Amino acid sequence: MASSFSVLTFFLPPSLLLFMFFFSFFLILRVFVARFIWSNGRCFTCHGPEMHPFIGCLIPFYRNRRRLLDWFTELLAASPTQTIVLERLGARRTVVTANADNVEYMLKTNFDNYPKGKPFTDILGDLLGCGIFNADGELWHTQRKLASHEFTTRSLREFVVKTLDAETNERLLPILSSACKDRRTVDMQDLLRRFAFDTVCKVALGTDPGFLDPSLPMSDLAAAFEVASGICARRGAALVSAVWKVKRTLGVGSEGRLRASVRLIHESVMGLIRRRKEEAAAGKGAERSDLLSRLISGGHSDEVIRDMVISFVMAGRDTTSAALTWFFWLISRQPEIEREVVREAADRADRGQGLDRYQELKEMKFLEACLCESMRLYPPVAWDSKHAARDDVLPDGTEVRRGDRVTYFPYGMGRMERLWGKDWMEFEPRRWLEAEGRELARVSAYKFAVFQAGPRVCLGKEMAFVQMKYIAAAVLRHFELRRAGGEQRPPVLVPLLTAHMAGGLKMVVRERRELDSTGRLRGGGCDRLETIVNS
Ligand code: HEM
Repeated sequence: MASSFSVLTFFLPPSLLLFMFFFSFFLILRVFVARFIWSNGRCFTCHGPEMHPFIGCLIPFYRNRRRLLDWFTELLAASPTQTIVLERLGARRTVVTANADNVEYMLKTNFDNYPKGKPFTDILGDLLGCGIFNADGELWHTQRKLASHEFTTRSLREFVVKTLDAETNERLLPILSSACKDRRTVDMQDLLRRFAFDTVCKVALGTDPGFLDPSLPMSDLAAAFEVASGICARRGAALVSAVWKVKRTLGVGSEGRLRASVRLIHESVMGLIRRRKEEAAAGKGAERSDLLSRLISGGHSDEVIRDMVISFVMAGRDTTSAALTWFFWLISRQPEIEREVVREAADRADRGQGLDRYQELKEMKFLEACLCESMRLYPPVAWDSKHAARDDVLPDGTEVRRGDRVTYFPYGMGRMERLWGKDWMEFEPRRWLEAEGRELARVSAYKFAVFQAGPRVCLGKEMAFVQMKYIAAAVLRHFELRRAGGEQRPPVLVPLLTAHMAGGLKMVVRERRELDSTGRLRGGGCDRLETIVNS
């Protein structure tokens, strides 16, 4: 020890040594103070709901159980650190943060200390096995490298041409067109979820379940995914996890249905793998570029391939549809902003003649700003949790204990005045733009953590934007959508695995009139529709 110190003093200048000494001293002091505070009971550096001896915050938690998103948001807005700690009888200690420094720290700086952890992987383990979405450590890292090939610019271009073109022009637009003719309302949330399921299956499995095609029977695979993800989400929201664990052991009730759905999903994917291998053995299918075929040719085991593609389907199936559902609702209430989107889409389509459509979509800056603004207020993944591997202290001084659930909270973050200013509640796409609207402003991924951030940032982010822009531009150029029955009650966000709109989004569809030379809708398009909807 003494010799290593003398080696240090020999090589390092005294000012650096002094700095290192004080730096280490304050680091140790900080941990020591935090520990001392804890040893006296309630953590004084922590904020949150009212706590009672023994039961913790059980009473206010129970009282707010149906509005947890808004309750957490109110507590976070009132917390000087924008972080709260919840301790309640029967539940794991939980740290919830809307503090961008903390989010950066847990998702990047000290990434290794915040894996998903067993409590998370237990909930989704039956369905996802060891797939990327449910894996940590080396298992996750290997899959991450493999899956990233699916998101090269080349594959995204192919995705636009092959998958989005067909799904939009042959299915989505004709459905909207016939609803328009028959003056029927449509549930946009349902249509968008079907669209997303079809597209993610084409990309991940190389099959078309035809979930959006009304002439085809209901896809068993889609139904099984619906059931399985719904039940897994309820596992995650259970007040006492022992209840679903007992039901799982006995295979009864919802757990029995989950088991049956998971069996169907596993058998379907295993069947696909078998057939794809037979096809390859017969010298066919070399042109296939879906994830499943790629993994098979990589020589991975059938179980690894199965788990990986199931994770992929889960990640891509409900996220873009959730984002677009809220986008269409928000846009329908802002005719001026809607006109701007339509103008940009029309303008890009005219100027982009002969150009690559992928590039054309990338250029739609105003639409991208609208999508970001809509996800700020209604993020598809409202909250996301990790579990601390070791004791730690977050940058704002909040003490974390080994095994704590640490949740970053995009829904609350999008509603923090300290992050977005006094007008945080306004739908204002221009906050995402600079250079007079020509460029997208740089916004920290830790402040807008809707796609997570750091090493585990969403792999499908680019693909999601391409898909959302494609659908939004195509639908809005052809149709005007307004919420059926007007806006008596604001829709309610239900934070299952992804954020759903309770009861769906029923909309009236009308054909969009032409734009005049100033970019305004001729014949008062939106206003005319308003009259129909409210009459
Ligand atoms: C608006 C759309 C989307 C949003 C908001 C979103 C958000 C997220 C978030 C928050 C995570 C982290 C989840 C966690 O670790 O618990 C994630 C991971 C992931 N997403 Fe997305 N996602 C979207 C669309 C997609 C799409 C379309 C795909 C692929 C088809 C996709 C593929 C993935 C994958 C593979 C991961 C796992 C990454 C990893 O663990 O390394 N996502 N996404």
